Amino acid sequence: MRPLIFAANWKMHHGPTAARAFLDRFLAEYHAADGREVWFFAPAVSLMTVASATTATPTVRVGIQNVHWEATGAFTGETSVAMAAGAGATAALVGHSERRHVFGETDAQTGLKVRAVLAGGLLPVLCVGETLDEREGGGTLAVVRRQLDVLRGLDAAALARLAIAYEPVWAIGTGRNATPRDAAEVHAAIREQLAGLGATADRLQILYGGSVKPENAAELVAEAEIDGVLVGGASLDPASWLAIVRAGGD
Ligand code: PGA
Repeated sequence: MRPLIFAANWKMHHGPTAARAFLDRFLAEYHAADGREVWFFAPAVSLMTVASATTATPTVRVGIQNVHWEATGAFTGETSVAMAAGAGATAALVGHSERRHVFGETDAQTGLKVRAVLAGGLLPVLCVGETLDEREGGGTLAVVRRQLDVLRGLDAAALARLAIAYEPVWAIGTGRNATPRDAAEVHAAIREQLAGLGATADRLQILYGGSVKPENAAELVAEAEIDGVLVGGASLDPASWLAIVRAGGD
């Protein structure tokens, strides 16, 4: 059985003070549940705050939202994998749609980042997903396949140490989410492609993201193909996030 992952992507919200206040409220009511993990993709400046507040909570993992693929150098404003690890991160988002569409990140760069994250011993979560135009033009699977193709050449051990997040761009922050069935279909195609690249398909974690809320989280994670959710807006408030983390549970 793959664990269910509830991953918060705080984007550019919750600096250290707000992160601390969030965690005080969240941890006061959070109960670890078997087979469920909670991940926080915090802003880089808040990683240490989140990591130190959650060290005693083994079901919680802390991640960075973006890294540079080089280890050090003249890259003003960037964060290396080792720096993120030193601040407490054990995971990193790679290729989030805002990195791709707002900052122009390319597939080649996501490929380098995945490899750097793996080399640094962190877990990469490679984000993929189509725009509305691409979906309406019937291009969903072709786009997702192209974005996943950066994993070609990684061996089975490396493929076992990464996760995928399927986030249709048209669903992010728009209030429009993919139906659980639509998402599950894309997840199945992702699993098949990764199996073709040498991954152990039934161990692969594939999260869905895009307008996940307390009202729709349970039906999404009820799909066998959906191993968890990556949540932006609805992860910012502790009460809403607690409701999602409990979705479909007892
Ligand atoms: P959203 O964002 O939940 O606000 O749609 C999801 C994401 O971008 O990861």
